[in-house]
Amino acid sequence: MLNLYYIGHSAFYLKTEKTGILIDPFISGNPKSVFDLQTNKITNIFLTHAHADHLGDAIPISKATRAEITAIFELANYCMSKGALSKGINLGGKIEYPWGSARFLPAFHSSSTPEGIYAGMPASILFEINGLKIYHAGDTCLNAEMKTIGEVYSPDIALLPIGSTFTMDIEEATKAAKWLNAKQVIPMHYSTFDLIKADTDKFKNAIESQGQKCTILAPGESINL
Ligand code: NI
Ligand code: MN
Repeated sequence: MLNLYYIGHSAFYLKTEKTGILIDPFISGNPKSVFDLQTNKITNIFLTHAHADHLGDAIPISKATRAEITAIFELANYCMSKGALSKGINLGGKIEYPWGSARFLPAFHSSSTPEGIYAGMPASILFEINGLKIYHAGDTCLNAEMKTIGEVYSPDIALLPIGSTFTMDIEEATKAAKWLNAKQVIPMHYSTFDLIKADTDKFKNAIESQGQKCTILAPGESINL
């Protein structure tokens, strides 16, 4: 069993029989988030970078549940300094867990904590769980690394930002989906705020017209993989 639940923005909850994995858990400050922290089991937390709309509630959740945060070295150290349980990694690194693995890969963006402290490189993350490869692009522009990721890993699912202003827009994300050689694409990082409004129908049409599957999830919706 593997369920991918969309919390909203770039936040996802991946659930297997024994584990609950949070990615970029922007929950309490997110006007569109749908997630119950009390009833969902959390065993691991992953962060693509330190911006507040990705770091989100990671530190208080880790402190309350002792779920371990995995993040780029500088960000992991920051989380540790705030009392969270954390593990540092850097680009290219892969960590094995009882449920699968996670490899940190490039993203072209910036990364600083809410206090403005440098937090290392931003990242994208490739998860491998039950033989499925799930790629979370983080916040990024279209970049040529995606061609390499497509050639080497060909993710089954790609979670791609489409909201523009701080990340790729629909046109770039459509190209990214192609370069990543992803079987299925799910958009994220759009319409949480006015600055990142995007038309998901337009994105779905563009992805499907190049022969890839596109699934639009509203906050609170999930799919079984
Ligand atoms: Ni960001
Ligand atoms: Mn962001």
